[in-house]
Amino acid sequence: MNIILCGFMGSGKTRIGKLLSKETGREFVDMDKYIENNMGMKIVDIFERYGEDKFRELEHDAVKELSKKKNLIIASGGGTVLREENVVAFHKGGGFIIFLNVPVVVLEDRLKNDKKRPLLQQPNRNEVIEKLYAERYHLYKAASDATVYSGARASLVVKRISSIMKKLQA
Ligand code: S3P
Repeated sequence: MNIILCGFMGSGKTRIGKLLSKETGREFVDMDKYIENNMGMKIVDIFERYGEDKFRELEHDAVKELSKKKNLIIASGGGTVLREENVVAFHKGGGFIIFLNVPVVVLEDRLKNDKKRPLLQQPNRNEVIEKLYAERYHLYKAASDATVYSGARASLVVKRISSIMKKLQA
């Protein structure tokens, strides 16, 4: 099955996904990178040129394509599992979704210098983060099959996820 990491921007989906891939030998796919490679454009430029709605369509296409593959570790985007049909497609492909749960204050600190995420390029960045977090938290919870506290050291988070994966395989 595919393992899909979900959670807010800055929750460590890419970092943890890469480490998990090393540990398990599974191929790692970062969905934002996948979309960027397909389009030959950065996410921030896709938002600027075509708008968020178009990005969400591209994201949905990526979910459908990746759900056909097997044994991947997938770092989804922070908005991916908020769309019900993406969650359905991941599950239909046999995917197991793990929510990387990080306290909002830690996210604010991790994201304070970000220049790549279009939704955060606003002067009141922390307000935006808090609003989005409040809107999204229960959706991450609802979409996921397991939650892992990820405000901790990356090595510890990887250990927790590995043990969940072992149980799944047992
Ligand atoms: C988004 C998160 C980003 C990227 C895009 C939109 C979101 O991914 O997909 O900027 O809506 O939360 P990361 O969570 O990998 O930063």
